Amino acid sequence: MSKRRIMHMITPTDSVSPFDVNMAVDAGYAVIVPHCGIGESSVADFVQDAIFSRPPKSASTTGMFIGGGDVNRASEMLEIAKGAMVPPFEVSVLADPNGAFTTSAALVAVIERCLKEHASANLKGSNMKIFGGGPVGLSTAVLAKERGACVSLIRLTASADDGSVSEFSARFGVDIDSRRAVENSERLAEAADAQVIVTTAKAGIQVLGQEAVDQASGLLIAADVNAVPPTGIEGVEVMHNGDDVVCKWGSFKSIGALGIGRVKYKTQLEMLKSMLTSEDSLVLGLSDAYTEAARHA
Ligand SMILES: NC(=O)c1ccc[n+]([C@@H]2O[C@H](COP(=O)([O-])OP(=O)(O)OC[C@H]3O[C@@H](n4cnc5c(N)ncnc54)[C@H](OP(=O)(O)O)[C@@H]3O)[C@@H](O)[C@H]2O)c1
Repeated sequence: MSKRRIMHMITPTDSVSPFDVNMAVDAGYAVIVPHCGIGESSVADFVQDAIFSRPPKSASTTGMFIGGGDVNRASEMLEIAKGAMVPPFEVSVLADPNGAFTTSAALVAVIERCLKEHASANLKGSNMKIFGGGPVGLSTAVLAKERGACVSLIRLTASADDGSVSEFSARFGVDIDSRRAVENSERLAEAADAQVIVTTAKAGIQVLGQEAVDQASGLLIAADVNAVPPTGIEGVEVMHNGDDVVCKWGSFKSIGALGIGRVKYKTQLEMLKSMLTSEDSLVLGLSDAYTEAARHA
């Protein structure tokens, strides 16, 4: 009898994401088990408890998903999980805290597609301002920087933690320019010289109003990930997927949350499916999410 496919969902927080549970079931996992309160100190024992329960070389029968809301913790846990395997006893592991790896991968891939189609350009050398340094903003900054964009990560709250930026960028060997713009006047000044504007604020918060795009006369693309009204940039609607938005000086291309969400969904689904079909164990993180997203943008 073939083994039922089990997904262990682990998180340092006190609950797993229903979105991720649904995605795992839709990808083909038959049994989903949530494990809360699993962090860096317990993940190696946890992996080793799982790998010996099934025959060697059967990585496709047991999967692990690392969630939570902290990209640094999830990345560290992914590394620890990888190091805890005892080949040929292995499982496949995917990290996607807050959905940030698959969402940022989709965001960057869709922006690249849009730049190519509408401006015969790519991210290399483009002046990109990312507003919001949560999990999605931080992951987007790293992916865009890796692709040659001149990235500024604009923090939105006075309490924003700078340590998370330096720790995460150091993992990928990039340097992210990060500063704060809490007041509207500061945000307007930051947006003014951008060619690509991305907003990744908490759901339901408008970061930039019409005035911001009206004075950003070199703007090629504005993208927002927030699906809860109001959108993060006035005029950028959730369904936009490279639509033209007219402003004071001309027009720019607009990408909304569902234009990005469509690619994020396919990216996460295909990564989960690959864990179920690969004969070798897979350890999938932010860079793998980008590779997958680029196929679907
Ligand atoms: N479209 C999709 O497929 C998709 C998928 C997943 C998530 N999302 C969306 O992506 C967005 C970002 O999610 P996330 O997980 O990175 O983080 P998040 O916890 O939703 O917050 C992101 C950032 O918002 C800023 N922020 C928080 N409170 C604020 C306030 N009162 N005023 C202004 N800014 C505030 C903070 O920026 P600083 O740290 O810079 O201060 C925070 O780090 C959310 O809107 C989420 O719904 C979309």
